[in-house]
Amino acid sequence: MTPLILILLLLSSLVHGHAQSQPKNQSFISLLITQNGLDFVKDLLVKEAISSIVSLRLHNIEKSTNIPLVGNVYMMLSNITINQIDVPLSFVKPGETGISIIASGVSCNLTMNWYYSYSTWLVPFRISDRVSAQVQVEGMEVGLTLGLENKEGSLNLKLKDCGSHVEDISIKLDGGASWLYQGIVDAFEEQIGSAVENAITKKLKEGISRFGSYLRNLPKEVPVDEHASLNVTFVNDVLLSDSSVGFETNGLFIGNDSLPIPHLGHMNSNLPVLCTDSSKMLGITLDQAVFNSASALYYDAKFMHWIVDQVPDQSLLNTAGWRFIIPQLYKKYPNHDMNLNVSLSSPPVVEISNQKAGAHIFADLTIDVLEDDKVIPVACISLLIQGSGSVNINGNNLVGAVRLDDFAMSLEWSNIGNLRMYLIQPVMWTLIETVFLPYVNAHLSKGIPMPIIHGFTLQNAEIILSTSRVTVCSDVAFGESKKLL
Ligand SMILES: *[C@@H]1O[C@H](CO)[C@@H](O)[C@H](O)[C@H]1NC(C)=O
Ligand SMILES: *[C@@H]1O[C@H](CO)[C@@H](O)[C@H](O)[C@H]1NC(C)=O
Ligand SMILES: *[C@@H]1O[C@H](CO)[C@@H](O)[C@H](O)[C@H]1NC(C)=O
Ligand SMILES: *[C@@H]1O[C@H](CO)[C@@H](O)[C@H](O)[C@H]1NC(C)=O
Ligand SMILES: *[C@@H]1O[C@H](CO)[C@@H](O)[C@H](O)[C@H]1NC(C)=O
Ligand SMILES: *[C@@H]1O[C@H](CO)[C@@H](O)[C@H](O)[C@H]1NC(C)=O
Repeated sequence: MTPLILILLLLSSLVHGHAQSQPKNQSFISLLITQNGLDFVKDLLVKEAISSIVSLRLHNIEKSTNIPLVGNVYMMLSNITINQIDVPLSFVKPGETGISIIASGVSCNLTMNWYYSYSTWLVPFRISDRVSAQVQVEGMEVGLTLGLENKEGSLNLKLKDCGSHVEDISIKLDGGASWLYQGIVDAFEEQIGSAVENAITKKLKEGISRFGSYLRNLPKEVPVDEHASLNVTFVNDVLLSDSSVGFETNGLFIGNDSLPIPHLGHMNSNLPVLCTDSSKMLGITLDQAVFNSASALYYDAKFMHWIVDQVPDQSLLNTAGWRFIIPQLYKKYPNHDMNLNVSLSSPPVVEISNQKAGAHIFADLTIDVLEDDKVIPVACISLLIQGSGSVNINGNNLVGAVRLDDFAMSLEWSNIGNLRMYLIQPVMWTLIETVFLPYVNAHLSKGIPMPIIHGFTLQNAEIILSTSRVTVCSDVAFGESKKLL
């Protein structure tokens, strides 16, 4: 290993185990980028760095030297251009103090114009020539260390260290009296070497600074629909280990008026990401509080109240269809149209265990009879619906689908005497299966956007359920034609 690599590795492994005594803020969505994920991002960054360095023009280099017998020679290298750069080996290493990225064995090709002039007592005129030259730079090391921290809810990327070191350089002159001047031009090696080092370091600093402002300006809210967003404000410190980088975000739903959700009961939080397959690039863990905050938000926004006036079996919306189930309804309002007023009586409660994602839904179903232009509520049944859901990834969204596990019902009130619930039960089951769940699933299929940086897409995602949380373990892909910055 060359000294540069050693220094960077030392820097990143120094200062271990400073005490974390501060109380932690609650976090409900956390992200973990594994070594494979870091490698993926590193490769993108290296690719961008290369494209920003190719075609780079370096400053002209001038020099006057006194050469015995010849006299004072003025020399200038101009139009020094980096043509091609090859990075055979690079790696990224997270550590407690930052993330180091090192590229080694870097080679590059430069072309330049080489001009010289001198006058000598041997001939009465000035001699000058202009030739082109090719420079081959080999075995260059480029390294940088990045600090990453949470600053007021945003990511703050700091360049802690950046350097490059040219190991070997060779200059080849084309045409002219090149054989004669090769020795002189070799004296430029050191200057060309440091010009290349400086130019690359400067470009990297610019690139990192752009990357930093990109990260700093990542939105703190990810829109879900016109009513809600996810609060992805970063909380607590960035968690740097020797093989991963972890982030915690608030993760709860917020309304479009940016008010936090009221009355969420006790919430667990700050649970670590658990992926069984450690080769995945990314793990995203969502606490069940995320789903419950969505539930509370849409409940408060009066989304969980609706009038059902169309069902697959339309006969259920006429008293004639209920003739044998609730005879007194038919007797009182023969052949009247009806509708069903379904209204959740509290926000659905989502509970996740290692076996399933479950939901408890409390609803009141009022049977309305329509007479002339009047709506006459005749009875109200309260329902406790227990569903369990499958959780999936669609694009970058976490989507779900619920199926009915069980339900219980009881009569709230009735204007038409007692109802025989055992007769009503199968009808309710059908209504839940054919009306209620399809409606809910249509909404759940839109899903929750995962906090992924624009341009990246989840690939080969795997969902792991555990007590009170869902973890998405996934690889990511980056749009081919896209640029990161
Ligand atoms: C400068 O170098 C570039 C790239 O090698 C070349 O295309 C261009 O013609 C050169 N300009 C001059 C004035 O030599
Ligand atoms: C540089 O130029 C030489 C010959 O012109 C070529 O063989 C080599 O692949 C080029 N690229 C790099 C990155 O050295
Ligand atoms: C915000 O949400 C409320 C109810 O959730 C809705 O009525 C309103 O139109 C929304 N406003 C915007 C700007 O989308
Ligand atoms: C928790 O949040 C408060 C206010 O946002 C902040 O002042 C404090 O530093 C945070 N604590 C941690 C450990 O991040
Ligand atoms: C978003 O989360 C941050 C960090 O927990 C919190 O300080 C802020 O109040 C939240 N924003 C809303 C609108 O709830
Ligand atoms: C639907 O029923 C709820 C009570 O369950 C009631 O508050 C609401 O006014 C009813 N809506 C209509 C349109 O009848």
